[in-house]
This record gives sequence, C-alpha cells and structure tokens, in this order.
Amino acid sequence: MSQAPLPIPSPSMRTAVLESATDLAGFRTQARALLIAEVPPQQVTWMLAEGRTGDLFAAGPDTLPAVPADSPVPANAPRVPAFFLQWCETVILHREPHRFALLYRMLWRLVHQPSLREDTLDPDRLRLEDMAREVRRDLHKMKAFVRFRPIADPDGGEPVHVAWFEPLHHIVDAVTPFFQKRFTSMRWAIMTPERCVQWDTHTLSFTGGARRDQAPEADAGEQLWLTYYKHIFNPARLKVKMMEKEMPRRYWANLPEAVLIAPLTAEAAHRTQDMIDRDATVPAKRRPRNGPAIADASTIHTQPLGDDVVIETLAALRHAAERCRACPIGEHATQAVCGEGPDQARLMIVGEQPGDQEDLQGRPFVGPAGKLFDRALGELGWDRSVMYVTNAVKHFKFEPRGKRRIHKTPTQHEAAVCADNWLEREIALVKPAAIIAMGATAARAVVGRAVAVTRERGTWMTRPDGVPVLITFHPSALLRAPEESKPDAYAAWVQDIALASEYATT
Ligand code: URA
Repeated sequence: MSQAPLPIPSPSMRTAVLESATDLAGFRTQARALLIAEVPPQQVTWMLAEGRTGDLFAAGPDTLPAVPADSPVPANAPRVPAFFLQWCETVILHREPHRFALLYRMLWRLVHQPSLREDTLDPDRLRLEDMAREVRRDLHKMKAFVRFRPIADPDGGEPVHVAWFEPLHHIVDAVTPFFQKRFTSMRWAIMTPERCVQWDTHTLSFTGGARRDQAPEADAGEQLWLTYYKHIFNPARLKVKMMEKEMPRRYWANLPEAVLIAPLTAEAAHRTQDMIDRDATVPAKRRPRNGPAIADASTIHTQPLGDDVVIETLAALRHAAERCRACPIGEHATQAVCGEGPDQARLMIVGEQPGDQEDLQGRPFVGPAGKLFDRALGELGWDRSVMYVTNAVKHFKFEPRGKRRIHKTPTQHEAAVCADNWLEREIALVKPAAIIAMGATAARAVVGRAVAVTRERGTWMTRPDGVPVLITFHPSALLRAPEESKPDAYAAWVQDIALASEYATT
C-alpha cells in the first residue's frame, strides 16, 4: 500500500452542502467541483441543507459556490473508475455520518494515487465495501420482512395495505421501486421512523417519518399467513443459528410469524425423529434410461451445455440429462428424472426435483407429493396424461440420515445450471401455452428470477419468451403441514391450480 505524496492543502476550509441525506446527484456535482478545484478532503466539511442538522457536521466558514449539474467538464477532468461510482450509489444510503467525507477522500486518493485502484486491502476501501454490503443487506431485509396489514377504506373503496418497518439505513427511496413493481395494483403505504412512502396505484408520495403506534395492529388475515408459515416449516431442515442470521431478532417485533418460531422449534426434534423412523427405501442400482451405459465417459456432461448445443427431441434430451454431471447432484442419484407427457402438451407443470420415489422409479411426481397432486387433478376433473409434468432439477438431491434419504433443497447454482441445461430445452421442445410453477425453486427456474411464492401464489407472471406462468406452492409444503391446517391449505392450493383450467385440455 504505497502512499504517494498528496498535494499541499490550501489553508481555507470549504463547506459542501447537499440537499438530503441521499443526495447522490448533489454529492457527485460537489465532489467533481472540489476535485477540479484541487480541494483536498481534509479541507472539506459536508453538510445537509435540510434543516442544517441531521447526520452531518457543523457548517464551515466558506460554502462552495453552487455548480450547475450540467456545467461543462474540463477536458483534463480526472477520470473516476466505474467501481467508485457503484460504491457511491450504495454507500450514500448508509447511516454513517462520515460517508460523504469518506467517499470524497476515496475519490481524491483514487485520482492522486492510481496504484490504489489495485489495492484491495486499503482500509478506506475495505470500509466502503463493508458499508455497501451493510446497505445491500438492509435493502434485502426490507424486501423480505415488510408485512402489510389491510386497513378498510371508510369510503368503501379498496383497502389500503400499511406496513411498519425500521430500516437501519436511508433506504426507503431506494427500495420503493421494488414494492411499486410488485404491488402495482394495490394501494399501500410503508411507514418508517425516518420517511414514509405511499402508492395509490398511480402516484408515489413521500412524507416524513412516523411512530410505531401510528401503524396498524395485527388483523384477521394474518391467520392465513400463519397457517401457511406452519405448512412450509420443515423440522428436518431447522438450523436455528442460520435462521437467526437470515431473520435477525431485531425484525421479529414486526413479523407476525415470529410468534410461531418458539413452538415450531420446540417440536422440531420430535417431528424429525418421526420422519426418520418411517420405513426406509432402498435405492436401486444406478440405471440409465434410453441410452448406453453411464460408464461411457465420452457422453458425460461435466460442464453446462453451451447455447449452441441443439437437442432435437425429448428422447435425446432424456438420454443426455442422464449423463449430466454439471453439478454434483447427479453423482449420487439413481437416475435422471425428466418430464413425462405429450411432447406438444398445452400445459406444463414444473416441480422442484424428483423425490425418493421418483428417483427410484424414474418418473416425476409418483411419490407422496405426486399422490397429492393426482388427487387435486382428480378433484378438478383434469387428465394428467394431457399435460407435461416435470421438475426444475432432474436429479434427486438428498442427505443420508440413518436408513433414509432426506430431501435436500438444491442450491441456486445447481438449480440454475439444471434449468439452463434441461428445463429450458424441455420448454423449447414442448412449447406449452402455459406453465404452473410449484414452489420457489420451480418459480425461479421458470421465471428466471426469485419469486416470493407466499405473496405471489395464485398469480400469473410472464416468462421472457411470453409464456404465462402460474405460481403456486409445492405439494410437499402441504404434506409437512400440521394436521389441523392441512384442509384449508389444500383447498387454497387447488384453487390456485384451477386458475389454469383453460390450458388443461388437449
Ligand atoms: N417433488 C417434486 O418437486 N417433484 C417430484 O417429482 C416429486 C416431488
């Protein structure tokens, strides 16, 4: 970390004024003006115009003359690396009062010490990276943990959904487009101690902060959500430390489901033992379908297939998938389980991955989840043989536990490689008019981005190729549900599936 000599500072201090705590445009304009005027960081005080209080420092003796945002940039203006501009966008949202000073110091040093660009261990740089990470985490948590509660409209209009949240950083404006896009047709408001935002289905409006006691209390609709949360809780996968890391305790006060964590955790060991004690299954010898022996190393795919690899029939696809080792799952499964059904089916059903029974029989949805699925189709009067039933991941991922093989969720990477290699090719060959994605893994694989199944179930999305995708939860979630809540959850799931009835015929 070599330190080049910095230019000698001029004796007078300068004050750079920003319009708000997240005034990125103002910061860029001021920083550029300061840099061009060769004002070193130790001579700059950063402050906010709004109230001249808040999280910056006291005013200095001189305020920089305003620099119009479109003022011409001199030809010899210093060039700033793209990564610095990316840091600015995120770090500026951090609550740390010195963030502007730190960013300007980094800018100054990047311009005057070019070797810094390569110095990934520089303390300023590490601090900025930490701050950017903390902001990204806060954004992620806000997207995941905002819970809306409906408030009836006294004039009889649509209810307004109101949520209370306490972000750690200045992220309300930055996260708003996410909620606007996700809940476009709903009237909603998010209240936070620093800033509130409202969406009336046409216009966004921002106001100052609110108090917790101004936010609505729990409502009856929450019962449905609690029932669903109980369903998707899998005792065999409980990892308390990991859960607390993902859902830190500071958010629990605003999460209705937090009341269930203690009782569900307490009974987890007992429920898991129950699962382990059930009869064991014995995997058959690995047996490839529709093709030569798997030991034929020349046909093993150890890498993701490139876009240029063309597979012309579903039979050829099954044959090739059998030899897929682009992720480690295939090494341990009995066989690949591709989809089954007519090659021109109008409706495609996508699950997560084969389970124990599917792995042994080589067919999708033939185990307990499949039985539930068949029951739902029977009640809807649908004929399974006219639809194409498949999974996002083609091999069974499991963890041996005693004599049993316990299902393990594929990682995002495994699911993405598998979807690119096989599911996308299945979709391209079958060309369904619509798809039902059951569960989060399937939804992500089919739609190409993370989908919050809890919120989005029963809704249609559109794939980049224009095919409509109905989101619903996975039948295994129902199988894991406590007995008393199974009937309601099952009925809701069947109702979701029924939304695709126009596609359920030949
Ligand atoms: N679960 C799935 O997602 N797919 C199957 O084929 C079986 C269980």
